[in-house]
Amino acid sequence: MFDPARSPYLQGSYAPVSAEVDGECELVAGEVPRDLDGLLVRNGPNARHEPRGRYHWFDGDGMLHALRVKGGRVTYKNRWVRTSGLSREDAAGHALWSGIMEPIRDNPAGIPYKDTANTDVVHHAGALKALWYLCGPPYKVDPVTLETLGKDDFAGTFKGKVSAHSKVDPRTGELLFFDYGPIAPYMHFGVADAEGRVVNHMPIELPGPRLPHDLAFTERFAILMDLPVVFDMDLLAKGRWRTSFDRSLPARFAVAPRRGLPTDVRWFEAEPCYIYHSVNAWEEGSEIVMVGCRVAEPFQPTRPEEGPWAVMMATLRIQAALHEWRFDLATGKTRERALDDANTEFPTMDRRRLGQRSRNAYNVLIGSEPTVYFDGVAKYDTETGRSERLVFGPGRRGSESPFAPRVGAAGEDDGYVMSIVHDEREGRSELWILDAKDVARGPVARLRTPQRVPLGFHALWIAGHDLA
Ligand SMILES: [Fe+2]
Repeated sequence: MFDPARSPYLQGSYAPVSAEVDGECELVAGEVPRDLDGLLVRNGPNARHEPRGRYHWFDGDGMLHALRVKGGRVTYKNRWVRTSGLSREDAAGHALWSGIMEPIRDNPAGIPYKDTANTDVVHHAGALKALWYLCGPPYKVDPVTLETLGKDDFAGTFKGKVSAHSKVDPRTGELLFFDYGPIAPYMHFGVADAEGRVVNHMPIELPGPRLPHDLAFTERFAILMDLPVVFDMDLLAKGRWRTSFDRSLPARFAVAPRRGLPTDVRWFEAEPCYIYHSVNAWEEGSEIVMVGCRVAEPFQPTRPEEGPWAVMMATLRIQAALHEWRFDLATGKTRERALDDANTEFPTMDRRRLGQRSRNAYNVLIGSEPTVYFDGVAKYDTETGRSERLVFGPGRRGSESPFAPRVGAAGEDDGYVMSIVHDEREGRSELWILDAKDVARGPVARLRTPQRVPLGFHALWIAGHDLA
């Protein structure tokens, strides 16, 4: 359908699908556990119109793929997120925006980039909310029909932007969110209550524009990140983005009371790095512990053999390793330690423990070819850094793999880990259900989805009783 010369991310496992379908998944092997009940939702880029110019994986229109698991059966559904940008392009019959690899001068006035809502998805105040990594209004989506319900104005309390990786606290039902941008104070932090009304919103003053991607939180605090990937300010004044890693600057972490004031924020410094995703954070005595995937070298060298895509491949190349930071509120000092050196990212965990002490993370293994893909899962003990692994096998590429507690689960790893695995050789996808206590054993069930699911970004598990 699309000109594959525009990008490797329009080909093979990444190629967008053109249909929105509903159907039953076909059991290929094993048995679907009867004590698994809920919805797996995954967001990701799926270009709807032929891209203008070069296509970056981050450019595609957000599409949700949902797998409802209940009573030993799995049904599938996929829908685009009907963003206002996509609606304008549908009306025009072609793409109106170029992606991030192209100049923005010919894009619609005042909207340099199309908000695709393609990055992340949370479940809050009864709706799914599709979120974008460059910040925009959350798009509300019905979790049963996947129908887009419109932009979330937080029951009339808030019209600002929200970044991907805003997070729901399972204890309070609050949504903790942030935004960032090129204008001072460069970041804000906010809290919406369980009913979806914004109850706190405050500036987090950064020394300049940054590219944060995630936040973490504990019972009392949110942790926001000022990481030394900095902008060329002269070019930024001309509307162009160029970033570099300034290793003379520390990584800085704002510890903000969740319902506090800007003057309550405390900053902690650590060795320079970049972080796409944290696993979790919690309080331990006077310390705040945060576990995440640390990127020591955010800008990888280009490889000329990758031809016209060398710059894009280098920008996307992920080299991350599991790491622990400890911010001591009594001393103001940070301690940090590497937990592993394997290249893993897109961590998930038992979300019922977000903000509280946890011990397990389920990361994907980053593949070794030029494009970004996941060729296995590692279950981590985040205290020791030890892991058990499952490699999907030749030609198989998985997705972020959420943990789903078993109905009536007792322990932290009492449940399942799920990944949508695309077989590049067959051009088909399967849902793999792993036993979280023994991921290395391989799937307890494999089910073929009614259509292939292109590789994508973030996924979420919602328990059946939370869907009601
Ligand atoms: Fe992300």
